Amino acid sequence: MKIVVTGGLGFIGSHTVVELQNQGFEVVIVDDLSNSSEEVVNGITSITNQKPVFEKLDLREKSKVQEFFKKHQDISGVIHFAASKAVGESVGNPLLYYENNINALVYLLQELKELPEASFIFSSSCTVYGQAEKMPITEDAPVQAAMSPYGNTKQIGEEIIIDTAKVTNISAILLRYFNPIGAHPSAAIGELPLGVPQNLVPFITQTGLGLRKELSVYGDDYPTTDGTCVRDYIHVVDLAKAHVIALKRLLDKKNLEKVETFNLGTGTGSSVLEVIQSFEKVSGQKLPYKIVDRREGDITSAYANTDKANNVLGWKAESTLDEAMESAWKWEQKVRQQ
Ligand code: NAD
Ligand code: WQD
Repeated sequence: MKIVVTGGLGFIGSHTVVELQNQGFEVVIVDDLSNSSEEVVNGITSITNQKPVFEKLDLREKSKVQEFFKKHQDISGVIHFAASKAVGESVGNPLLYYENNINALVYLLQELKELPEASFIFSSSCTVYGQAEKMPITEDAPVQAAMSPYGNTKQIGEEIIIDTAKVTNISAILLRYFNPIGAHPSAAIGELPLGVPQNLVPFITQTGLGLRKELSVYGDDYPTTDGTCVRDYIHVVDLAKAHVIALKRLLDKKNLEKVETFNLGTGTGSSVLEVIQSFEKVSGQKLPYKIVDRREGDITSAYANTDKANNVLGWKAESTLDEAMESAWKWEQKVRQQ
């Protein structure tokens, strides 16, 4: 079966391509290389011994999207990762985010609705919950007013898919990721942030290598056990596997509703200081850090209730924080040697 993976050369997309190929799917990657490199194709191929088809294409170009689908009429499903994802950048340049994350989605759905049947997996985010009232967060927790244009594109994206699925042959699964970290254990693919990393784990691993002087911990006066924010860090390989399971659920028509939503997390919350301790444990070195003011827009705590993913989807995160951190550290060291 032929599956299109948009953003398939990115962090989560590339790991998902590996898992799809491992399960016998034929993969066509669509990516405009705005936040990735064509080298990733080689990384994927070195793991699976199969070279995925790659087409460089900017999904904001409607006519190109139409041409692409004319050429690939035998598509069984689409996993849609392609998006811009920097929260801070989205505040300064909202139209870039609305154009990329919304237009591209609409163009894709416009083509998919012409197929006799289509399965669609969407990369959503725990950001839709904002600061949820109850922990752990269940899928029926209310979606809160978005705190950034980026977050808003995920909420609007979910709504566009729900409205479209009601009146078309498209079935969809919305996957709300918590905090994806780590890399493939082979260290052939991983996360490659451009410039100064905004996310905690790549900042830690770059600091560990001496590329950054020290980590700034954003606040230690939150109402948590040690005062630092709590998140649910999930190994990207576990996350990737969930996409294959979700896709098969749609292809096998096991879905109970036209659009289903699942949290993808571990169910365990870790504080920033616990994440630092994990790095120190797996790397055997001290991490230089200082406590600074809170970062604007940060929520105190977010971790997933994974019952629905475990019991309905039939997926469970297997890796611990230390295992995910170890893979991130191995990747960081390898990538800097190249
Ligand atoms: P990423 O930036 O590594 O991957 C996205 C890929 O999409 C990149 O390779 C980029 O070049 C490509 N792309 C972007 N715009 C495109 C366009 N117009 N046409 C074609 N390709 C385009 O990001 P990621 O971390 O792998 O995230 C994947 C998805 O998961 C995104 O939708 C993101 O919003 C979502 N998500 C990510 C996180 C996270 O923390 N990483 C958390 C929740 C949700
Ligand atoms: C984690 C924790 C920081 C960097 C973001 C997006 C969210 C989702 C995942 C896509 C927080 C602290 C961080 C640093 C620090 N992405 N931190 N020093 O903020 O949970 O979520 O990525 O959908 O939408 O907002 O992830 O990795 O940035 O931060 O102390 O240099 O680490 O305050 O508590 P976050 P993060």
